[in-house]
Amino acid sequence: MPSVRRLAVELEVSPATVASAYRDLRSRGIVTGRSRGRTTVSLRPPLRVRSEAPVPVGTRDLATGNPDPRLLPDLEEALRLVAMRTRLYREPLVVPEFAAAARVRLEEIGLDGSEFTVVGGAMDGIERVLQAHLRPGDRVAVEDPGYSGVLDLLAAMGFERHPVRVDNEGMIPDALAEALRFGVSAVVLTPHAQNPTGAFITPARAADLRAVLDSAPEVTVVEDDHLGLSADPPYGTLVDRRSRWAFVRSVSKTLGPDLRVALLTGDPVTVSRVEGRMSLGAGWISGVLQRLVAALWNDPGVDALVTQAARTYSARRQALIAALRRRNITAFGASGLNVWIPVTQESSIVAGLLERGWAVRAGEAHRLTAPPAVRVTTATLEPEEAEAFSEDMLAVLHPPHRTRIA
Ligand SMILES: Cc1ncc(COP(=O)(O)O)c(C=O)c1O
Repeated sequence: MPSVRRLAVELEVSPATVASAYRDLRSRGIVTGRSRGRTTVSLRPPLRVRSEAPVPVGTRDLATGNPDPRLLPDLEEALRLVAMRTRLYREPLVVPEFAAAARVRLEEIGLDGSEFTVVGGAMDGIERVLQAHLRPGDRVAVEDPGYSGVLDLLAAMGFERHPVRVDNEGMIPDALAEALRFGVSAVVLTPHAQNPTGAFITPARAADLRAVLDSAPEVTVVEDDHLGLSADPPYGTLVDRRSRWAFVRSVSKTLGPDLRVALLTGDPVTVSRVEGRMSLGAGWISGVLQRLVAALWNDPGVDALVTQAARTYSARRQALIAALRRRNITAFGASGLNVWIPVTQESSIVAGLLERGWAVRAGEAHRLTAPPAVRVTTATLEPEEAEAFSEDMLAVLHPPHRTRIA
């Protein structure tokens, strides 16, 4: 857009009138304020929809980010055990069985559990919290590399994404401090199983990040616990004791993504805005789903399965990282379901691996300014496969030199 002064001259109106019009457009998300006073037309709509090429038949799919279905509970069996009851309008949003089970889970990670609600998965929770406090054009600090779903959601909501680089322990404190100085309105971060790098916020890093965040008490901080595995290994949350915060724990990776249930806790204003807005639209998360999740959470057999899943994911991830290291290939993955392998050129590596029968994900969808890499989902990768994969990765990274014979 032209500058305020230029447009005022062109339209023969006062600069105050143009500035006021720009403010109005900005508050409606039609334009976005940029650095150095520039105003830009927002990128929405149309929305970019990422479409992944289907994995060819016979290819080993390590591209999807899915949990291992064999490590998820049998829902048919669980459904038979859940006492269902007819629920009517105007009942509390959270059913008592879910509330009781949720409190236990919140206490486990040191959150007081007095304010919480149920949302339709981690992404739904993040969207609702940001909608409760931000307006299009606001700036949000995100991990870079980060989860493509979050990056795309922020763009779709008309927010500016401010990349914050991550290392093995999550957001780098200095990079977060810079984002706060830049004037972000919110920060979205993952405490562990960072997607795609597997970063895990250690207690020491959590203390450093807390200190940085304390310098910006007005900023909304959302912690995305999409993995929801307390056992991998225990971590401390860093969002409570702020004035605007939310913690979202999804059951997608532990009980199954199709349940679309997440527990959301936060400060009283955030939780009540999320609930208030939900009650006007979707209304509530079905009591059938809430009771099913509560029954699964309370089942010692499911608990054992979830613990086994945490151990298995850890072993599979570490097996791949070790197999790659034996071949002098650097890879990251301190926790979670994925391993992140830096490369110089994503598309040729993805294509080369595909030729050898492995589908992996190009890192592009996960990056704003971070350097290239590929993401390998190790959730189902057996240790023997890790060796074969690493051998092929080595071949693709260092193809034999072709010599031209004159
Ligand atoms: C970091 C992160 N957040 C959120 C999600 C999605 O969670 P949900 O299914 O609960 O919306 C994923 C899925 O892989 C993820 O990796």
